[in-house]
Amino acid sequence: MSQHSATSSATAHLETGTHWICSCGLSKNAPYCDGGHQSTSLQPIELEVQAPKVVEISY
Ligand code: FES
Repeated sequence: MSQHSATSSATAHLETGTHWICSCGLSKNAPYCDGGHQSTSLQPIELEVQAPKVVEISY
């Protein structure tokens, strides 16, 4: 099992819709989930965006 503490951040320009944010720290496409968590018990965080926005994501 892997645990991850936020150590990095990124500014993301998110379009309307569902985005999956990495919670495991293994994604090669951080801050977005790329499926790298499959060897852990962790799951990505679902982020629903109602209108395009710029956010700061810590991961
Ligand atoms: S790769 Fe980290 S949660 Fe999916």
